[in-house]
Parts: sequence; structure tokens; C-alpha cells
Amino acid sequence: MAGGPAALPSRRALAAGKEMDPDLRYPALCDLRARARRRLPHFVWEYLDSATGSESVKGLNRAALDAIRLTPRVLAGPLSPGLGTTLLGQAYSAPYGIAPVGMSGLIWPGAEASLARLAASRRIPYCLSTVATREPEEIGPICGDMGWFQLYPPADPEIRADILRRARAAGFRVLVLTVDVPGPSRRERQRRADLAIPPKKTPRMIWQTATRPRWALGTLRHGMPRLRLMDGYLRIDKDAPSTAHAGYLLRVNPDWGYVGALRDLWDGPLVLKGILRPEDATRAQAEGVDAVWVSNHTGRQFDGCPSVAEVLPTIRTAVPALPLIADGGVEGGLDMLRLIARGADFVMLGRAWHVALAALGETGAAHLDHILRDDLVANMHQLGLAAPSEMRDRKD
Ligand SMILES: Cc1cc2nc3c(=O)[nH]c(=O)nc-3n(C[C@H](O)[C@H](O)[C@H](O)COP(=O)(O)O)c2cc1C
Repeated sequence: MAGGPAALPSRRALAAGKEMDPDLRYPALCDLRARARRRLPHFVWEYLDSATGSESVKGLNRAALDAIRLTPRVLAGPLSPGLGTTLLGQAYSAPYGIAPVGMSGLIWPGAEASLARLAASRRIPYCLSTVATREPEEIGPICGDMGWFQLYPPADPEIRADILRRARAAGFRVLVLTVDVPGPSRRERQRRADLAIPPKKTPRMIWQTATRPRWALGTLRHGMPRLRLMDGYLRIDKDAPSTAHAGYLLRVNPDWGYVGALRDLWDGPLVLKGILRPEDATRAQAEGVDAVWVSNHTGRQFDGCPSVAEVLPTIRTAVPALPLIADGGVEGGLDMLRLIARGADFVMLGRAWHVALAALGETGAAHLDHILRDDLVANMHQLGLAAPSEMRDRKD
């Protein structure tokens, strides 16, 4: 090379580079979390981050993940870890996806469409909630073949059949019935934050909104978040009280007969979400369910249950051949490998995607996807794994 040594970049240029590169500024989910919290109105943050009771389950999920120690295998030779995973007959580019989050669009304006776009482009599943702020007809086509639809059980069989027909017509392939919400939970933190459905316009909330301009302007642009799918059915229910919200149409305490009815109605893969007991997994399999989603709803429903990591091995033993999906407190690739080591085939994340959106908008979700992939690969190198599923066969 001609001339003298290349000039070193100035401190200012280095700082500017760091400013630009999200991997230097936000290398982990916790960095995105700090920024998300600053950009969201307090009541929205409380909705996203809270659980119920004293919130012991949230901490328990985390502690149980941290307690899983995986022993590195050395001198494994050249390794190029691949993340591709097949679940329920569909190939995904990684062993993780986006869990259903109700009122997603309240947390970040346009969240459902943003996450559906990410899922389609990165080839990971996106599960749309029954109580999303957008309808299946809008989100299904964005997901392409990556769409799953989550069902809270409507009490009225005609509404149920109509929702299933609409979800199917919108392109959703996998149906997920959530069974761990047999009734409402108290969510004390949300009460303290004045959060109600529909949201009350208290002076406190108006102030919180006014001081978070990005969220406020985005919400103005996308329209006030509401449960469009269920609101549509409420409007045509002449018996519904004027104060009724979506919960009015949903069935509390469904039973195994409900699962059987769904099995007859849905010809694609059917998943039960919110299973913690081995005998429930066995029964699900007997009812023709295609996969069980081991979840404690990240502590939002019941503050007395065990962690997901703790129950996974017994469920795996009970249903050795049934695909198991797991979630709850996952923050990176290492956590995924930990859950796979305990028996999971696939891992889902809920809050993390919304934290990422709130921190950096749509590019935040893409950045989180990068963090997760990079962290998976880095840890697979340490463990000598060519594929995440190899973790299942290791006796660490
Ligand atoms: C704000 C919020 C809303 C949620 N809404 C739903 C929902 O509508 N349907 C559902 O099945 N699960 C819902 N969940 C549970 C998630 O699907 C998932 O089980 C949980 O968030 C996983 O834990 P993680 O957030 O620590 O990844 C919700 C969770 C959060 C945090």
C-alpha cells in the first residue's frame, strides 16, 4: 500500500460508528429493555412487563434457566452450526418464534404487522392472538406460510366456527388453543397503573402519553388499539351489555370436550398452550393434539406454579414422541439450548419482541432476531453442536 499508515479513526468517528451499529449499542436484550422502558408510557410498560401476585414465577423462570448448566465438549473439530428446524411439518430457519401477545398494538403501534413481516422474512413462526389489535385477514397474508393463530375459546360454537374459518382463509396453518386462562387473574401492577380494557383516559395516562411522543404519534397514525376481531362479534351480539369487552364472548373453564370439538373442526396442526402437568400432555396426545406448548404464561395467570424448565423433563418422559414447544423468560440463544436440553423441540418468546419494537421500532425486532441467532451459534460452538436438536440427546 502506498503512503504512510492509515489514519486511525477519531474518537468522534468511533462514537458515531457505535451510535450507528446496534450490535455495539444494544448487544443484549437487557440493553433494548432499558431503552424500551424510557420510550413507553408507564401504563403500557406495566401491561407488557407485569405478572400476577407477587410475581414470583417471573423470577423463578429466570432462576431455573440460569440453574441449567451445560458442559462444553472440546476438540469437536470444524463445525458450522446450522439453526434450521422442522416442526409440525414446516421448515423454520431457527428453533424459535414469536409467541401470541394480546393487545400487541397497544404496546407498540403496528406491532402485529411488524412482527408478521419479520416472521415472513426471517422464516420463523408468528402466532397472532385472538385478542390482537388487528384482524386475521390483515395479518395472515403478511405472515405467508409462517402464521399460527392462537385461540382463546369462544363460548358460542358459531363464533368459534367463524373465527376458525376466517383464520384458515387468511392463511394461518397452525391453531394454538390456550388453556391456561380458565378465568381472569388479578394483575395487581396493572391495576395500580390504572390499566383497564377499554383504557380509561385519566389525567395520569394522558400525561404519560404526552411525554412519550414516539408512542403517541405512532398510536395516532395506526389508530386507537382495540380488539378488532372480538369487537366485531360483540357488535352483532344484541344481548351483550354496553360495557362488555372481548372476555364476555370467551368461555371460562373449557374442558377436554372443547379440545375434541376443535380437533374435529381444524384439519391442520393443533397445539395446546399452557400445559404444565405430564398427565395433561398425555391426554392431549390421546385427543389428537399435534404438539404441546409447555408454558406458565410467564406468571401472568398464576403465581404458584413451577417453572417451565422444572416441568419439561417429566412431560418429555410422558410423551416421548410428541413435539414440545416451551416459553417463559427466554432472553437469548443459551436459554433456548437450555430448554432444548430439558426436552423442548422449539422455543417461543413473547415480551422480548415487544421490548425490541418499543426500543428501536421495526428494526429493533430484526436486531433481536440477529442477537438470538448470533447467541445460538456462539453457544453451539462452545458446546460442540452442529444443530440445536443435538442438545436433546446430550446428558448434561
Ligand atoms: C403482554 C402479554 C400478553 C399476552 N397475551 C397472550 C395472549 O393473548 N394469548 C396467549 O396465549 N398468551 C399470551 N401471553 C403469553 C405469551 O404467549 C407467552 O406465553 C409468554 O409471554 C412467554 O414468556 P416471555 O414473555 O417471557 O417470552 C401474553 C404475554 C404477555 C407478556
